[in-house]
Amino acid sequence: MTVEKQKAHLILPGDKDVQLDVITDNMGNNSIDIERLRANTGYITYDPGFANTGSCLSSICYIDGEKGILRYRGYDIEDLVENCDFIEVAHLLVKGVLPNASERKNYQMLLNKHSMLHYNMQNFFRSYPQDAHPMSILASMVASLSAFYPEMEERDPEENIDLTVTRMLSKMRTIAAFIYRQANGLQFVDPRWEYMYCENFLNMMFYTPVNNYHPNPVHVDLLNKLLILHGDHEQNCSTSAVRLVGSSEANLYASVAAGVCALWGPKHGGANQAVMAMLKNIVDNDIPVDDVIEKAKRKDNPFVLSGFGHRVYKTFDPRAKIAKKMNLTMLNAEHREDKLLEVALKLEEKALTDDYFIERHLYPNIDFYTGIMFHMMGFPQQMFTVLFAMGRTPGWIAHWLEWRHDIHQKLGRPRQVYVGPMERKVVPLDQRP
Ligand code: ACO
Repeated sequence: MTVEKQKAHLILPGDKDVQLDVITDNMGNNSIDIERLRANTGYITYDPGFANTGSCLSSICYIDGEKGILRYRGYDIEDLVENCDFIEVAHLLVKGVLPNASERKNYQMLLNKHSMLHYNMQNFFRSYPQDAHPMSILASMVASLSAFYPEMEERDPEENIDLTVTRMLSKMRTIAAFIYRQANGLQFVDPRWEYMYCENFLNMMFYTPVNNYHPNPVHVDLLNKLLILHGDHEQNCSTSAVRLVGSSEANLYASVAAGVCALWGPKHGGANQAVMAMLKNIVDNDIPVDDVIEKAKRKDNPFVLSGFGHRVYKTFDPRAKIAKKMNLTMLNAEHREDKLLEVALKLEEKALTDDYFIERHLYPNIDFYTGIMFHMMGFPQQMFTVLFAMGRTPGWIAHWLEWRHDIHQKLGRPRQVYVGPMERKVVPLDQRP
């Protein structure tokens, strides 16, 4: 990053010329530093959805939304999906480097060592209604970890953080699996030391004493890839929530719980569930794809084409391309067809040749094809966003850590443009109309 000698000039009413530093990032993108704007001029900026606001300096993830590039710590997403497993990518995101073979093995063992949940937490799962949405349970269980695994005052603060990070990353999959078991009236299955991260998760999800379950290596590989795809995505809604909560110096569990809640919404991670509901509705009711496209374009109803459009990507989301390819490879390998995928492909084809979608640069995003993969692997629709959260956990952790070690950071606290009433006096209760 460099601060350019060149200045940006902001001319305020009264012809006041304010000079602002121009910052150029490592990829050559420019930004205007307005940190002292209010202090020096009394003005603030107005930016709904923070669409033009860089809230931090970050070295974790790089996106070029015009070219469809996504990199974690400099590595292309395609490269990582092709050549790494989720543990390696989690190590990369959280610690900044890809592990060598022995570091990977040690990290795997460390994560397994911390994968159990405190026995008393099991009672919480049992107290939820059977049909509770998994994301509501996930958020509260993640927050509850801070009650069961508090940071120890006598330990070195950095050691505390290391342990909390490991616990967070590892216990996320156990919580996710226990949510599924509870919803299906099944006993909890403990993690096993000999299994890797994804194998362990699949075993905790699907093992029963009468099905002789062993994680299918094809599914293990696919799950690794899918979790990598979800690993990080710079300052998205949930990551910004994690950073904002973390900026109050709230602990990691509390911050990640906030991320889980932010992810839940259908405009963000909840879109994978919404896509599946949409595709099933189309297939079950034999709805013509053209009708769906027309409905998504109309402004007289709230329906949108779930899994399409993105704040940053104005071309193909590279994750959607990879997920689509994975879908096709899996079906070809198993010599079968899938109605949901067929409909998804038709929707994509129609949308990409329709002026409405072309003019607005609306392309499939990550959630368009991942749900079909999860579905083919046997995960119920309600668990899709939980799987997204599992994948995103190392990213959330990395951002929380980055904020913590960033000397420029301060409490996150945006301002507002007030449009409410002017000062007025309270009318006594008995005189109010
Ligand atoms: N279907 C139909 N129209 C759409 C869609 C869509 N999926 N997405 C955007 N548009 C339209 C908007 O109505 C708007 O039209 P207008 O200019 O006529 O008013 C225009 O495209 C611009 O859309 P915005 O909502 O202003 O774009 P924004 O960047 O704020 O929103 C978002 C991005 C929220 C992802 C949006 O595209 C959307 O709602 N998509 C569907 C939900 C979805 O798939 N979310 C997952 C995103 S990826 C992730 O978070 C993991």
